[in-house]
Amino acid sequence: MGLSAAQLADFDRDGFLVLEGFASPEACDALIARAAALVETFDPDSVRSVFSTTDQTRTTDDYFLSSGDKIRFFFEAEAHDEDGNMRGDKALSINKIGHALHDLDPVFDDFSRDPRLAAIAAGLGIARPLLLQSMYIFKQPRIGGEVVCHQDATFLWTEPQSVVGLWFALQDATLENGCLQALPGGHRLGLKKRFRRFPEGGVNFDVFDPTPFPDTGIVPLEVPRGTLIVLHGALPHLSGPNRSDRSRHAYALHLIDGACHYPADDWLQRDPAMPARGF
Ligand code: FE2
Repeated sequence: MGLSAAQLADFDRDGFLVLEGFASPEACDALIARAAALVETFDPDSVRSVFSTTDQTRTTDDYFLSSGDKIRFFFEAEAHDEDGNMRGDKALSINKIGHALHDLDPVFDDFSRDPRLAAIAAGLGIARPLLLQSMYIFKQPRIGGEVVCHQDATFLWTEPQSVVGLWFALQDATLENGCLQALPGGHRLGLKKRFRRFPEGGVNFDVFDPTPFPDTGIVPLEVPRGTLIVLHGALPHLSGPNRSDRSRHAYALHLIDGACHYPADDWLQRDPAMPARGF
């Protein structure tokens, strides 16, 4: 059920692995329907928090910073006009839902605690896997925001590094609608920065290496729905904006190794009464 020796070798070489056909069309549809039902419960006038990676220290607010153990809704940066009115339907304005769907929602819990994922985690050498973060990403038609090149360990830091990303295409992902793109082998370049809470309040980056990511060698990962892409925590990856009229829904789950230290100044913190759990 886990990964073959050839797949593990590919992962070591490239820093990612593409597993087509992991989730059935029915399983994809179940998550899509569940996310739509959750959005239905969200009052768009209750809070207006935007998710944008182009100016992350400015757009990261308390609503975001306290979302690690909740189900919260973040808008696309282009969802509102200059007067603050939603340009389109609520269901077509949300950038993502995060970050504890896998613990708080039974449908996402079931999908996330699939024994096949536990086997993959074991194969990757994660001694005590913890499901730390989940995100439902809409990449909405026309206004779907880009995600600039980054490494997941920048945001989910452990000592030593242990984060692994599990990214599920719930709809076909193409360059046109903003598929993942990655730099094969880039996980060996080292981590460029760390995003963390600062004692004086707010969040910012510790920069270890100010040089930009290489702008050549990045490849698009165009995949059909149902594909699971496994991402090494240090792999540089990104996704472009979606200017097409087709959405690109995806579900992302991040695992860490509970055997590693999880610092108190990581942005994602959970209520001690609700610690991260494994499979
Ligand atoms: Fe990422």
